[in-house]
Amino acid sequence: MTIWNLGSINADLSYSVPHLPVPGETLAAASMSRGLGGKGANMSVAAARAAARVVHLGAVGADGAWAVGRLMEYGVDTRHIVEVDEATGHAIILVDGQGENSIVIHHGANHAIPQDLLGRALSEAETGDLLLIQNETLLQPEAARMARELGLRVAYAAAPFEAEAARAVLGLCDILVLNAIEMEQLQAASGLGLAGMGVETVIVTEGGRGGRLHLAANDWEAERFETPKVTPVDTTGAGDTFTGYLLAGLDRGMPLRQAVELASRAGALMVTRHGTADVIPDLKEVQAARFG
Ligand code: RIB
Ligand code: NA
Repeated sequence: MTIWNLGSINADLSYSVPHLPVPGETLAAASMSRGLGGKGANMSVAAARAAARVVHLGAVGADGAWAVGRLMEYGVDTRHIVEVDEATGHAIILVDGQGENSIVIHHGANHAIPQDLLGRALSEAETGDLLLIQNETLLQPEAARMARELGLRVAYAAAPFEAEAARAVLGLCDILVLNAIEMEQLQAASGLGLAGMGVETVIVTEGGRGGRLHLAANDWEAERFETPKVTPVDTTGAGDTFTGYLLAGLDRGMPLRQAVELASRAGALMVTRHGTADVIPDLKEVQAARFG
């Protein structure tokens, strides 16, 4: 099967700082690095690293050829990434000594993905393929509707939280992946409990504490899962890596529990690394990793 990921592509400018700055403070970074990121691109790379077939649907500016080149290098099919008349999206990422981050994103080209790209790309999809969407692009509801009509399953990673997109997409998705804060925001914005959301499989992550699964088949009862304990260096991209690995596992027919375990290992490894898409581990590294 194939994962069709409508997602953002960013240049990540990442700065190591002693602490996250407070209003009015000027702070010197101990180091900085530039790399490939964007929640969409990170998920595509993670799923491809986990051996899934991934087609990325997205846009970059005239300055974004390097980003497309890297996606390709990491095994992502880039034939449905177009160049538009906007700057490539970027993110300013501050990472403190505990590995926590603050991120400012500039959407740029990510908000200029032409709508006709969806039909062009998804007309190549097959029944049983998976559409993945997040909140760093527009057109999620259009893509989800089209995917449903074509017999694809839809996975929604509701990050970063966006009330309007979430409300529009909820009734159209089969798998929902989000963190505990996003879950609270989603329940507040939609006024719905888990049962009312109409999603079959909900995975709520809680960072280093693991998370919980809620399945329609189990009456939404919470089932906990654990994540390996690591000393955090940079949590950026860990959630995206979790999601990419999870969906790659499910796409290959892994039982949910097993896919979640694999994804947790990949996410934990990612927390020990500085950077985002460029440092996402491959399947061999994830399987070989020893924790604690
Ligand atoms: O989730 C991490 C990502 O958020 C970064 O790669 C950055 O580009 C922002 O989209
Ligand atoms: Na990281």
